[in-house]
Amino acid sequence: MDFKTTQQPLDQIRVDCLIIGVGLADEDTPSFGPSAKATDETLGGLLTQLTERGDIQAKVGQTLMLPATSHPSAERILVVGMGEDAKRNRMVFKQAVEAAGEALRKSRAKNAHCTLAEFPITDADTHWGVRQTALTLVHTDYVYEATKKPKPDAAPATDWVSFPEETGVEAELAIAKGISQGVGLCRNLGDLPPNVCNPVHLAEVAKQMAGEHGGLAVEILEEDQMAELGMNALLAVGRGSECPSKLIHLRWRGGPEGEPPLALVGKGVTFDTGGISIKPGALMEQMKFDMCGAATALGVMKTVASLKLKINLDIVVAAVENMPDGKAYRPGDVITSMSGQTIEVHNTDAEGRMILADALTWTGEHVKPKAMVDIATLTGACVVALGHHASGIMTQDDELAEELLGAGLEAADRGWRLPLWDEYQKQLDSPFADMQNIGGMAAGTITAGCFLSRFAKDQRWAHIDIAGSAWVWGKPGSATGRPVGLLVQWAVNHAGGWSKALDQ
Ligand code: BES
Ligand code: MN
Ligand code: ZN
Repeated sequence: MDFKTTQQPLDQIRVDCLIIGVGLADEDTPSFGPSAKATDETLGGLLTQLTERGDIQAKVGQTLMLPATSHPSAERILVVGMGEDAKRNRMVFKQAVEAAGEALRKSRAKNAHCTLAEFPITDADTHWGVRQTALTLVHTDYVYEATKKPKPDAAPATDWVSFPEETGVEAELAIAKGISQGVGLCRNLGDLPPNVCNPVHLAEVAKQMAGEHGGLAVEILEEDQMAELGMNALLAVGRGSECPSKLIHLRWRGGPEGEPPLALVGKGVTFDTGGISIKPGALMEQMKFDMCGAATALGVMKTVASLKLKINLDIVVAAVENMPDGKAYRPGDVITSMSGQTIEVHNTDAEGRMILADALTWTGEHVKPKAMVDIATLTGACVVALGHHASGIMTQDDELAEELLGAGLEAADRGWRLPLWDEYQKQLDSPFADMQNIGGMAAGTITAGCFLSRFAKDQRWAHIDIAGSAWVWGKPGSATGRPVGLLVQWAVNHAGGWSKALDQ
């Protein structure tokens, strides 16, 4: 989808669909903004009539697609409920634009002019509104096509959307384009089937990305190199698979020379059967999404390299497939991790933490980051705790927690903190090793975080559990591209904000 800007008045813009918002003066009195007023006049009071009849109620999420046979330049008008000014925060605004995007996607329109960013947002400026509108419209336009071609009569994708030309709008659209490229990569990788998107495929994607962006360096560690380094916890998980495990490392140096980078470490289990502790059959196909942490890290790097951001960033992806096999690791095994700490395996389905243990150790030693964040679809318990709206953020560093929570709010891609208190650590005690790989029924998300903390000891480190936020559960499940937005914003904030991160 392309973005454009135009100075033309609304009754002269030639488009398939003109998107107009209607707000609320109080709980149930619609109130027209400038675009609704102008369009109402153009249409001889049609919008006023529809409002009086109750067809337009202006509640958030309500949409009405009108064939605009009497409009001089638009073929359709999409009227979008924007709710009350006083209650329209970032999340509400995003919800309204999502509804608009969904209606646009279902229509025959191939292009649109969007005026929704004229509505005030309680906790953001209009530039943010433009950026979020563009991002959201790309998001709702997405349809998976890698292994299923659309029917000839399917609703068409949107070729372009234009926005009213104002100072700063072009820059916001460029940012939105960059972020949506990262989000799009993340969603595409997540949605790909596990017989296509395996560890070798993830490594190829990283190499291809490095080929496309000058200054992006790639390094792939093969199994023998990992064995040499003692990465036995990671290798144990991949041992049951026919596909070789990979450690994928991408490095971007757009920031000050010599400044230690930020590092993202992604869980890339391209399919999680559970291994010998095999999962039940129902919904197992969803475990193709168990590489969404890896896809997030790759997505953030895609955005950073596309926008040539002035930051230093490394991403490390632990890519494995967790399969049951004669060679697979088993419950009862004691494995010596790269850190030297031993792990007694109690459940081979707690594999994410095994691979991240070594990936975190490797990143700490080889990248020496100023802060390190891992992203993982780590526990079903996180979905029980937080559902699908928040990613679970865990860290012992209060400042880092605030950074990540704040970035999530700014990007309308929210996280919520869970504690990593020392009291939980003893659930991991084992008589046969330094720790066992599961902590029992209680606080499963937190004990998984506690396990990881043991491999990030002298680091500024946080863990993000995205089991609930990385994809839409059920049918048709699809990757969301979260939390690419949160992490891009976090990285940008480290550079001093968008203007500093972009400044050439
Ligand atoms: N990938 C799963 C976590 C998961 C499960 C994410 C369902 C989203 C939906 C992870 O590898 C796993 O299997 N975790 C176990 C941990 C348990 C064995 C302690 C879980 O959550 O059941
Ligand atoms: Mn598992
Ligand atoms: Zn898993």
